[in-house]
Amino acid sequence: MAQQRMNVQAPVERLFAERWSSRAFDGEKPVAAELIASCLEAARWAPSCFGEEPWHYIVTDRFADKTNWDRVTTALAPKNQLWARHAPVLIVSVAEPAFSHNGKPNRWAEYDTGQATICLCLQAAAMGLASHQMGGFNPDALKHAFALPDQMHVMSVVAMGYPGDVARLDEGFQPMETDARTRKPLETIVHNGQWNSPWRAPVNAGWEARYQETPVQQLPWFYRDLDADFAQALKAFDIATGDVLDIGCGPGTQAVALAKLGFNVTASDVSQSAVTTTRQLADTENTPVECHVDDVLDSKLTGPFDLILDRGVFHCFTEPADQQTYLATVGRLLKPQGLLLLKCFHRDEIREQGPPGRYGEEDIRHFFADGFELIETRSTLFASSAMDDPPKALFCMLKKS
Ligand SMILES: Cc1cc2nc3c(=O)[nH]c(=O)nc-3n(C[C@H](O)[C@H](O)[C@H](O)COP(=O)(O)O)c2cc1C
Ligand SMILES: C[S@@+](CC[C@H](N)C(=O)[O-])C[C@H]1O[C@@H](n2cnc3c(N)ncnc32)[C@H](O)[C@@H]1O
Repeated sequence: MAQQRMNVQAPVERLFAERWSSRAFDGEKPVAAELIASCLEAARWAPSCFGEEPWHYIVTDRFADKTNWDRVTTALAPKNQLWARHAPVLIVSVAEPAFSHNGKPNRWAEYDTGQATICLCLQAAAMGLASHQMGGFNPDALKHAFALPDQMHVMSVVAMGYPGDVARLDEGFQPMETDARTRKPLETIVHNGQWNSPWRAPVNAGWEARYQETPVQQLPWFYRDLDADFAQALKAFDIATGDVLDIGCGPGTQAVALAKLGFNVTASDVSQSAVTTTRQLADTENTPVECHVDDVLDSKLTGPFDLILDRGVFHCFTEPADQQTYLATVGRLLKPQGLLLLKCFHRDEIREQGPPGRYGEEDIRHFFADGFELIETRSTLFASSAMDDPPKALFCMLKKS
């Protein structure tokens, strides 16, 4: 089953989410030789420089051959032994460092062996097996134990087996099974035609991935009813009619709730799937909502609106240039004296998961100093129908000046 602990910047095949380096193995359940064969077969079909196929694998299976499995286990770093001793299969990967056709060094041998080994791990994931590559072991001990020719490079040991019970892991390892998996952002590792010129994924790609992969009801920001902070603000300002834009409408619950109250609602989102969901909800509820796929950073909307509702969009932007574009866009789309009701993560919210931007009243006052009057902020929660402990939020009421 896909695990949802990664936050992708663009949609990827499920297999990439299904493979991860778990430490929890079911030590009681053997892996059928046929499945091990499929993993090795996947490795066999990896590409390699010159078609050299410089990889070798030593397979040890605790249920079939405990002596050799023990040899691998004892060569592992002590910390790896703590969890890897529950993995029924340990596979040693080895690179042959010279080309067979001329005996010259093959400087791609290790690269190619790694390519083959990830194929092995992905095949394992596709069959519901957990795998975990390790570099923490004593290569000389393995060379000696398996009488490897001296020139061979022992690259890794792959632990493999069925997923096990996390509660039975050493306590220090347990959070690693549930913490969010993170990666460097694409723009820090991908260069646009030249070194140090960041390549940026289209802004909609990551959001589209979220909506394609997760039923909206499970998204942390999903809230069935009209968010109470917005409802209270409408009451406080005695606003019951007018043209409203729900910017970054997501699942559309807020837009539809406002339309039901009699507002003339436009809903926009950068994700096509989010807009489709909003349109479907509006149809199901028999409530008119005008829906648009639109990027607030390159908006084609014209408005103008009496009110803009932003529940969780502004805090997505941390680049000053993006914040300025956001400011200019909401300023352009609002009528004079129009209201911007904005909810973002609070600067006191410390959990890693969530948007990069977290703000206090002073931050908001500073960002919106040009063109807006900050009427009020309120510390509150980011109400969620999907989470028991919703994150801390800041609710802001701003008027276009
Ligand atoms: C060559 C290599 C060596 C690794 N060595 C170890 C290791 O000795 N112990 C360990 O717990 N994890 C080890 N890992 C696992 C990495 O920590 C893990 O792949 C990384 O944190 C990313 O996590 P993910 O595989 O769940 O995406 C190794 C991974 C690779 C590819
Ligand atoms: C935290 S979600 C909140 C969704 C919705 N407002 C709600 O409360 O359920 C943020 C939303 O902003 C949208 N979004 C992010 N960047 C955007 C952009 N540049 N333009 C328009 N929408 C954007 C995302 O697709 C996502 O639906």
